[in-house]
Amino acid sequence: MKMGNSSFVAIALLMSVVVLCNGGKTSSYVRKLIQNPVDMPLDSDAFAIPPGYNAPQQVHITQGDHVGQAMIISWVTVDEPGSNEVIYWSNSSLQNFTAEGEVFTYTYYNYTSGFIHHTNITNLEFNTTYFYVVGIGNTTRQFWFTTPPEVGIDVPYTFGIIGDLGQTFDSNTTLTHYQNSNGSTLLYVGDLSYADDYPYHDNVRWDTWGRFTERSAAYQPWIWTAGNHEIDFDLQIGETQPFKPFSNRYHTPYESSQRTSTLQYKWLTAELPKIDRTETSWLIVLMHAPWYNSYYSHYMEGEPMRVVFESLFIKYKVDVVFAGHVHAYERSERVSNDKYNITNGICTPVKDISAPVYITNGDGGNQEGLSINMTQPQPSYSAYREASFGHGTLEIKNRTHAHYSWNRNQDGYAVEADKLWLFNRYWNPRDDSTIHIP
Ligand SMILES: [Fe+2]
Repeated sequence: MKMGNSSFVAIALLMSVVVLCNGGKTSSYVRKLIQNPVDMPLDSDAFAIPPGYNAPQQVHITQGDHVGQAMIISWVTVDEPGSNEVIYWSNSSLQNFTAEGEVFTYTYYNYTSGFIHHTNITNLEFNTTYFYVVGIGNTTRQFWFTTPPEVGIDVPYTFGIIGDLGQTFDSNTTLTHYQNSNGSTLLYVGDLSYADDYPYHDNVRWDTWGRFTERSAAYQPWIWTAGNHEIDFDLQIGETQPFKPFSNRYHTPYESSQRTSTLQYKWLTAELPKIDRTETSWLIVLMHAPWYNSYYSHYMEGEPMRVVFESLFIKYKVDVVFAGHVHAYERSERVSNDKYNITNGICTPVKDISAPVYITNGDGGNQEGLSINMTQPQPSYSAYREASFGHGTLEIKNRTHAHYSWNRNQDGYAVEADKLWLFNRYWNPRDDSTIHIP
């Protein structure tokens, strides 16, 4: 912060004292939760198996390329492999197209998966509604989605953000609230089914999760981030291939970034310079474990990653970083800690308007329950924190402004509990703080 005169310095110092005692806002909202949420039973409506022989189930889609002209359509059949074909057409043309994909199966301890189909449909028009049919030859099911608008500097678009969803009654509420929002694509920040909380990682709970989320994920792309609950590595039962269920079930368009199987750092340093901010005005990063977290749960767990990657985020003007993992909500101010080198003692995050805002949306509602214990006092980097379930929405308005809101699940309603305007770091790098940080 640039200080213009001495009286301003005095005010700033005084405020810094206040801030040290009380960082941002710790919500006073007390959630009516006596015990941990419980998973919905296997015969719950949310997990209903669609009728018909070999009927496709667990239908979900994700963007199939960089720009939004391809979509990966995925589904599971259980009686036989059936067809890998997808028939699709746009609402402006009656011409049908057919695309052929691949089918996968895997075993996990005593579980054998159904037939998992992935078909990438390409050459789609922007901003167009497509209908698609899966299950060709046996029981067919029809769905639809709308492709995103063409890449452009001032194109408005609304994302949802959910993390750590699980499959409890609270998860169901979160998903319903999200479906009532105007989100067009969901950014998913890791930890999907929590099947690994069951004995032998009961993969039946991967199937129920796929059926539970279909009501949204079949109709709009969910963009995947893997969390620790996707690792499914368990030596005791001989399962040593990390991410086996997740990587069979949830494909991502990694081939469109030239299929690099190198370390994450190499991938990211190659990927970030490709982003042309005169075309793609907003730069959003998704990760699972947050770097700026003031809950006891997973406190400082993101540090090894932060010390390696944080300077890149600042250099490439990342606007906002969404994470999950901590089962609560938290939003940071624009801060950085990249001067800290472990030995120099400079370990307090400082205000940095070149840095992203960090938001934790680990509040989907899984059966492990909320992370309610917070470090005290609230650190200055933490602008708002609340231990409730909910979801986020990010409405991009144009190249300079986006509006973020966090919507808690409260007594059956989604209540907007935290909201702010974000200014774009490339096009509008002004101070958009919501609290004072020294
Ligand atoms: Fe996690």
